[in-house]
Amino acid sequence: MFEENHIVIEEATEKDLEAIIDIEKSSFPGYPYSIEIFRTLLKDYGRYFLVSRSRGVVVGYICGRIFREKFGEIVSIAVIPDFRRKGIGRKLMLELESRFKKDGIKFTRLEVSVRNTIAIKFYGSLGYEIMKLTKNYYPDGSDALTLIKFLEEDNAHYLK
Ligand SMILES: CC(C)(COP(=O)(O)OP(=O)(O)OC[C@H]1O[C@@H](n2cnc3c(N)ncnc32)[C@H](O)[C@@H]1OP(=O)(O)O)[C@@H](O)C(=O)NCCC(=O)NCCS
Repeated sequence: MFEENHIVIEEATEKDLEAIIDIEKSSFPGYPYSIEIFRTLLKDYGRYFLVSRSRGVVVGYICGRIFREKFGEIVSIAVIPDFRRKGIGRKLMLELESRFKKDGIKFTRLEVSVRNTIAIKFYGSLGYEIMKLTKNYYPDGSDALTLIKFLEEDNAHYLK
């Protein structure tokens, strides 16, 4: 789809699921999503399931779905540690948001653990704001923040 420093972002395929689940397990050791959940998301919302590849190898992914017919929900995003802080997560988010916008969706939303300070900074840098706090949301008992973002006409200012 687009290429920068050998990073290509494109729709995921069934063949990518093993690499995706490996990244998921190492990024969320306590409560990873199962391969079945990813397979269902790929089948039902393939347009919102993207991978970033470096020389053909999956180094990150994002998947989303439509929530209550109104919100574009970010279900999961992760980038492998060696490729973090290179702008890949931001590009995955902006590509998914752009797809939601094209489909007439005006807001995105997501849940993030209050303990995940890096992700909270990451989403904050993309314009996400806190909507609510849910106590005991995750299996380890941690609380979740629900973050939302209004999808503006022009997201170019988030690209550096
Ligand atoms: C969150 C995650 C996807 C970010 O991906 P990434 O490719 O490293 O992020 P980017 O390089 O695009 O960062 C974009 C901006 O987010 C912020 N950010 C990202 N990582 C950060 C960090 N470790 N510390 C502080 N700010 C950070 C910065 O503002 C950054 O812009 P800058 O590098 O120009 O300062 C990645 O850290 C990850 O996979 N974490 C584990 C999985 C996870 O927690 N997912 C979210 C679950 S809700």
